[in-house]
Amino acid sequence: KSNPKLSDGTLLSDLINLETREVKMRALSDPELFELEMERIFAKTWVFLGHETEIPNKGDFVVRDMGSDSVLMARGSDGEVYVSLNVCPHRGMKISTHDVGNTMTHVCIYHGWAFKPNGDFIGAPVEKECMHGKMMTKQELGLKKARVAIYGGLVFATWNIEGPSFEDFLGDAKWYFDTLWCRTEKGMEVLGPPQRFTIRANWKTACEQSASDGFHVLTLHRWLSEVGPYRKPGSEGGGGDLTPEMYGTEVYTAHAHTMRCIELDRKIRRLTGKDPSELSIKEKLEALPPPGITPEMLPEVLRRFSDDQLRVMAWRPPQVGNFFPNGLFEFVYIPSPDGVIGVMALHAYVPKGPDKLEFVNWILAEKDTPPELKAKMLRLGVQLLGTSGMVEQDDSDTWPHQTLAAKGAVSKHITMKYQSMYENNRLEGWPGPGDVGDGFTKDDTQWRWWEYWYELMTAEN
Ligand code: FES
Ligand code: FE
Repeated sequence: KSNPKLSDGTLLSDLINLETREVKMRALSDPELFELEMERIFAKTWVFLGHETEIPNKGDFVVRDMGSDSVLMARGSDGEVYVSLNVCPHRGMKISTHDVGNTMTHVCIYHGWAFKPNGDFIGAPVEKECMHGKMMTKQELGLKKARVAIYGGLVFATWNIEGPSFEDFLGDAKWYFDTLWCRTEKGMEVLGPPQRFTIRANWKTACEQSASDGFHVLTLHRWLSEVGPYRKPGSEGGGGDLTPEMYGTEVYTAHAHTMRCIELDRKIRRLTGKDPSELSIKEKLEALPPPGITPEMLPEVLRRFSDDQLRVMAWRPPQVGNFFPNGLFEFVYIPSPDGVIGVMALHAYVPKGPDKLEFVNWILAEKDTPPELKAKMLRLGVQLLGTSGMVEQDDSDTWPHQTLAAKGAVSKHITMKYQSMYENNRLEGWPGPGDVGDGFTKDDTQWRWWEYWYELMTAEN
């Protein structure tokens, strides 16, 4: 283990107290710490970059960030997805200055070196004259390539070429995440390009919250129960209660992937007028199918999963959670006049500096979901989540304040506390893997996020 020292002598271990479960505010703003995070986390672990349906055709590309590095995510002539450093190996100019496009030849605007979508070097203009002298071989002059993994259409990449596999990184979370991302044979698609906006906040403010902080919903998002979709059924406003949404099962697995599996019984009871404990798994899923799944699509879903997985999907499905380090997903069941509509969204909180992040929001549906339902899911997704949505405008109000407090001469020394713990009080009969807490939402998942952050930040190699 290493214990990096900041230039004023502060050790990394001074910023986090593993016994009392506290983190110094300063950890949310320090520029030196930010540099270390880019090296020790974002340049080492698997990072979520986007969805492969954003680049369906050969030559399609988008420009994304892996921590502090710009990368090209492109579909090559062989149909595979490649991720390469968006930096010219000649003199370091940015290769693609566009965010999105299609080309089989990425030409550097500086001296004209050209590259394939897979990063291979093609050549330079007036090559005989330009590539003269003691040149490296064409093979050596390609863009730096990352290792890529595609999971349920999601594109992940890492610079850790010899490091753990993506399956290893996902670990026990896969048992649950399959029920979200791998529900149908054809898979999912993005409903248009992602929304993006910049927030003056440290990336960790958003990401530790993404690690399944449930408690804030009761206060920060209380409008949901006052005037929003969780108001009392049939009322114009008020009377709603978000407390039942606080109950369920919270799961965290190795590598700090976490999720809140929120109980659906109340919604099923309201929709069917029946006691959910008297319904079969199939009947429950028919009454309240997962987001984007129609009755016609349900038999396929039933075929794809084990009885245990289906039980969780019908009872307490994962509704919010994170991919470490900076991805968040929401698979929420929203009451609406048309019944319950599911919304599926995915966010990346891209670090842009110690006090700046880019919030990127994708809204998704199954490819097989009928167009009318896709349109409803998109509308509701846009209304609630992301740039224009009402829910995350609440969340993104808090992050800049935390980041500012992290710079105060006095406030940077106070601590964030993670002391309300389940300590793995697994409900008897819970069929899924991982560390599991049952009951009212607690701090375990966010604390595990910090523990893993610390583990990576102090790793020797
Ligand atoms: Fe790209 Fe020179 S920097 S061709
Ligand atoms: Fe929130």
